[in-house]
Amino acid sequence: MVNDFLPPWVKKLQKSGMQKALSTTSKSDIISFCLGRPDNSLLILPKLNTVCKNLFSCENLQYSPPSLELKTYIVALMKKKQVSCTPEEVFLTTGAQQAMTLLTRLFTNKGDNILVDQLTYPGYIQAARAIHIEPVPIPVCFQTGLQIEKLMHILEHNKRPSLIYTMSEGHNPLGVSLSKNQRTQLVKLAEHYKVPIIEDDAYGFLNYDPVEPPLKSYWKEGVFYIGSFSKILAPSLRVGWIITSEEIIEKLEILKESLDINTSTLSQKLVNSFFMKNYLNQHIVKLGEEYKNKRDLMVKYLKKYIPEMEISLPKSGFFIWGKLPASINTNRLFTLALEEEQVSFLPGSAFLIGEREDVQNCLRLSFAFCPRDLIESGIQRLARAICTYKWKNEEQYARAI
Ligand SMILES: Cc1ncc(COP(=O)(O)O)c(C=O)c1O
Repeated sequence: MVNDFLPPWVKKLQKSGMQKALSTTSKSDIISFCLGRPDNSLLILPKLNTVCKNLFSCENLQYSPPSLELKTYIVALMKKKQVSCTPEEVFLTTGAQQAMTLLTRLFTNKGDNILVDQLTYPGYIQAARAIHIEPVPIPVCFQTGLQIEKLMHILEHNKRPSLIYTMSEGHNPLGVSLSKNQRTQLVKLAEHYKVPIIEDDAYGFLNYDPVEPPLKSYWKEGVFYIGSFSKILAPSLRVGWIITSEEIIEKLEILKESLDINTSTLSQKLVNSFFMKNYLNQHIVKLGEEYKNKRDLMVKYLKKYIPEMEISLPKSGFFIWGKLPASINTNRLFTLALEEEQVSFLPGSAFLIGEREDVQNCLRLSFAFCPRDLIESGIQRLARAICTYKWKNEEQYARAI
């Protein structure tokens, strides 16, 4: 009955694979390589407790205009990435998720074309679908990401898209970083066809090898840069930002008011305190070392226990993309691994827009959340799940003939 109140587009809404996984894989006995959560041991709890002590003032519990102090700190942070901007060009958001939602609303009319990597962050697909926009996939290569020639073909043969959404660094789910050449070509094309780029850099401060500057530094007016404190401080603070011009910020302010009035004052003040005490810069360096270590451990054990899995080495972010032999369907492997071995990952199909056959045997592994000393046994469990899967497959095949 209540369902009758809903319009057809709402009835069709489905949870993303990520949301479904959150509830099934959060149990304590499961070794999780599933979600993009930071490592609990890297949440700097003692320092958080120290900075929280003086935060509960009346002023910090009120609605408030965006913190100029925080914007000024973000300007300094962006300078490290070779992006120059002023505090007036920083727009504070409730996480990167809200930033992408706002920018997508800003640039689109119902029914517009938007271009998105064929394998992408499911939260973005949800943000687009919530406003009746179905993304058009840009083909990607598992090893190098966005394929420039394919993008060129799409731009030449379709109506002008309203935007391109992509991740240049620590891609979710592929783990790739765009090369300098890809960045130059992408920006050139977007500039030529006058298409704005939303650059989601949620993992952009977690680098394990030298990286290129963001797309934003290649094209100031046309690239709308998104940053976040979720992966470098804590996701529950819900603080992110957009770097763009003052004219665009005026419009974003109006759109944001309809969503949440303002980003939590308390969270803004908390992030400020980290900058003020100079904790954040040191913390980012530490995160780089710790996550690099975890990345290397996972790669080592994948090579040792699952040599048949093709993997690439991510320079940034939390994720390793794996390709198993074509006979293994990772959706079915997901259930088996969870039920019989209590280990989780996300199947490649959870990130796919449209159809692509060679994704059915792929998976995304996050090396970030799982404690360091459990990575080896988690990969051993996954290796056992793959063996059981093959054995069951062969048995079924034998029974069928
Ligand atoms: C690529 C990407 N963008 C954005 C987000 C969401 O970030 P935030 O917590 O800042 O909203 C995530 C979260 O996992 C992500 O993987």
